[in-house]
Amino acid sequence: MKAVRLLLDKNIVVGVTGGISAYKTVALCSRLVKAGALVDVILTDAAAEFVRPLTFQALTHRPVITEMFSLLQETEIGHVSLGKRADLMIIAPATANTLAKLAHGFADNMLTTTALACRNPILVAPAMETAMWDNPATRANLQILRQRGVCVVGPAEGHLASGASGTGRMSEPEELFRAARWAMSRRQPMTDVRVVVSAGGTQEAIDPVRFIGNHSSGKMGYALAQAASDRGADVVLIHGPTSLAKVYGVEDVAVESAEKMCAAVLEAVSDADALIMAAAVADYRPATNTAHKIKKSDRTMNLNLVRTQDILSAVAKNRDGNNRLKAVIGFAAETESLVANARDKLSRKRLDLIVANNVSSDDSGFSVDTNRVTLIDSAGKADELPLLQKQEVAEIIIDRLMGLIKRN
Ligand code: PMT
Repeated sequence: MKAVRLLLDKNIVVGVTGGISAYKTVALCSRLVKAGALVDVILTDAAAEFVRPLTFQALTHRPVITEMFSLLQETEIGHVSLGKRADLMIIAPATANTLAKLAHGFADNMLTTTALACRNPILVAPAMETAMWDNPATRANLQILRQRGVCVVGPAEGHLASGASGTGRMSEPEELFRAARWAMSRRQPMTDVRVVVSAGGTQEAIDPVRFIGNHSSGKMGYALAQAASDRGADVVLIHGPTSLAKVYGVEDVAVESAEKMCAAVLEAVSDADALIMAAAVADYRPATNTAHKIKKSDRTMNLNLVRTQDILSAVAKNRDGNNRLKAVIGFAAETESLVANARDKLSRKRLDLIVANNVSSDDSGFSVDTNRVTLIDSAGKADELPLLQKQEVAEIIIDRLMGLIKRN
């Protein structure tokens, strides 16, 4: 896994309390380290009964803190310096007992002391038996924590350590990682910006079982949504059918047809600062969509196709009446005359920037993780980028978007 710019060299303190799900926190720490974060782990005495400190130490390459007043730790770290230095503190699993202590400002061990000294976001992942989770005391404590801005992730429903099923399982490491990324992003420069991103391909129904579609996987659009969210933006992701995992913290709008995507985009842009259309929207749809499955026959079948609405053109038409919308970025998927065709689309669709996407080679465009694009601005200036990961392309596009928003 590649480093995540937002987490690179960030100090993340992971507090582990006594619960069987502490083993999942090992995977979380590994994920954070791979993303480039500097991870310090604090184990309560109870947590150390479930997972040995050495496991965390080996993964994080940093000493694990277990005792509040160990002499070494007091000299090198200090009982509050870790909390003060933390860019983010994650408490996973967070038992009902620790949640109660956090809600009431206790500082009776290294973990709670660090949390009390932490000035930056705190994320808790509760894990407990359902009865404890349902207890009004736990609910009230969580309410207090939420009101103070603590980010609460989970718990999930499912199999519990007792053998019973119910709510109380700690969220999975991947979800916690995504939530941590989102919590960190809330202090980034785009927090007052709302961005609409479209992704994936549309499907135009022929009958209840068949459709006209394309090879878009949604990867480019999802990478853009993640990159904008990482900068703090409030993101609406409107996408066609895809198998990709949801982007944490992003408003997810699933559509199928070009018509539905058009309606969703027009509604979302009415109170947005920017639109990025990375979706591969069908240009044609079957003139009729039959209610029953079309029976095959030995004769040739002709399909009548009609044009779909061009979403970017519809946005352009309304643009004069929308003072908030400061930047519209389109893509142009091309196999020939890349820059000339893209320039034509840029002016026809009244775009501020177009991403000319070379889809003629196997390592660029549809479905793959890499992309080769040329960015062309409204003055006609073209910047050809080398082959990059879609995430890297997305970062560059969001850099350009920030410039456009500032300018307009
Ligand atoms: O999803 P991936 O597998 O990661 O692939 C990414 C991608 C190749 C789909 C993406 O990078 C890309 O190039 N998207 C645009 C594809 C496309 O439809 O290009 P176009 O040249 O046909 O359309 C030009 C622009 O008009 C695009 O921004 C498109 O979203 C928009 N459009 C198209 C048709 C339509 N009815 N309404 C539109 O707004």
